[in-house]
Amino acid sequence: MVGDLYMLDNIKYNFDEKINRKGTNCAKYDGLKRYFGYEDLNPLWVADMDFKTPAFINDEIIKAAQNSTYGYSIDSEDLYTSIINWQKNRHNWQIEQKDIYMVNGVVPAYSACIEAYSEIGDEVIIQTPVYPPLFKSVKANNRKVIFNELKEKDGYYTMDLEDLKSKINKKTKILCLCSPHNPVGRVWSKKELEDLALICIQNNITIISDEIHSDVTFNKFTPLASISKEIANITITLNSAGKTFNIAGLNCAYAISNNQDLLNKFKKIAQKREIHSINFFGYISTKAAYENGANYVDELKKYLKENILFTKEILSKEKIRIDFFLPEATYLIWLNFKDIKLSHEEIKNKLLTQSKVALNDGVSFGSNGTFYFRLNVALPRKALEVALIDILKSFK
Ligand SMILES: Cc1ncc(COP(=O)(O)O)c(C=O)c1O
Repeated sequence: MVGDLYMLDNIKYNFDEKINRKGTNCAKYDGLKRYFGYEDLNPLWVADMDFKTPAFINDEIIKAAQNSTYGYSIDSEDLYTSIINWQKNRHNWQIEQKDIYMVNGVVPAYSACIEAYSEIGDEVIIQTPVYPPLFKSVKANNRKVIFNELKEKDGYYTMDLEDLKSKINKKTKILCLCSPHNPVGRVWSKKELEDLALICIQNNITIISDEIHSDVTFNKFTPLASISKEIANITITLNSAGKTFNIAGLNCAYAISNNQDLLNKFKKIAQKREIHSINFFGYISTKAAYENGANYVDELKKYLKENILFTKEILSKEKIRIDFFLPEATYLIWLNFKDIKLSHEEIKNKLLTQSKVALNDGVSFGSNGTFYFRLNVALPRKALEVALIDILKSFK
């Protein structure tokens, strides 16, 4: 409702506006030399957007800053209400305050889940290619990563449940689900989720469902734990407003589980690791996002979808084939360079030294990411066009 007011006030969301992020401690821009070895690259990598964080969030942050104190902060009833209403209104998922636990990031929460639901030496199943911290964190916790690679056909990825079943044994304790899936852009259907969950129920496997990309979805998204009581009973869901509203740097996320035993085990580790104390602006921005952000997300999704289609159009005009499957979620495009008869390293080198673009290296998402690079299209369309032309020119 308040979101409508922002629209009526003609505070338009201008996704075409070019913003300056260089020199602002911005990892995407100021981290280029550190992460890619070159300073002068066009940054199209890490999953944050080159759009202004919307006014309905910024205004609340400025209001809070005007009070000029930044002591320890505490969660409020309103914050939980905003999360509950958001999940209900956007995803038709009814949750309760007792099922939610606030933490300072999805990745820290994920790592805590690994410790909470398994012992050293146990096995955790990961579906690659996937967001790298999801397997790095398993190794860092001294658990064994078991790869259940996704199947790919003409760019479309599905789960390989036969392979999954063959990899389960007594040591398998956790399955990590990325839903929607980064980087392949799948929104898993209800049926796919049910089939996966059934295997986990039958084998006493806990599912950690990372749903951080659930708001930027172009197909119907189903929260895993909303499907049935049985599925909710083996699931802990991790989420945050960080990706959707460009507030990842404010470090506020949350875990949800209706199974109080699972939630309590998680809380214990989260407290031990001190990840439950949240940034002062994290609470404020998350609440403002969820209370006012519905219109914004609808507008954002339209713009992003157009950017995705625009990318397809530009790439398909060329004889050389750099292709991708239209993502069902996220602003991340999983670019396939297989038709270019060069090695992965040669492609990478051309992108960095000739195109001068920083894309995420597909291999970092798993060994089946060879010949892929992930492109972030959450930027003004004109800047996207320049980047695409620069990418193409090195492969003519
Ligand atoms: C699937 C996935 N999970 C988690 C994160 C990061 O979450 P956080 O910044 O809350 O740790 C990302 C960021 O790109 C992501 O893509």
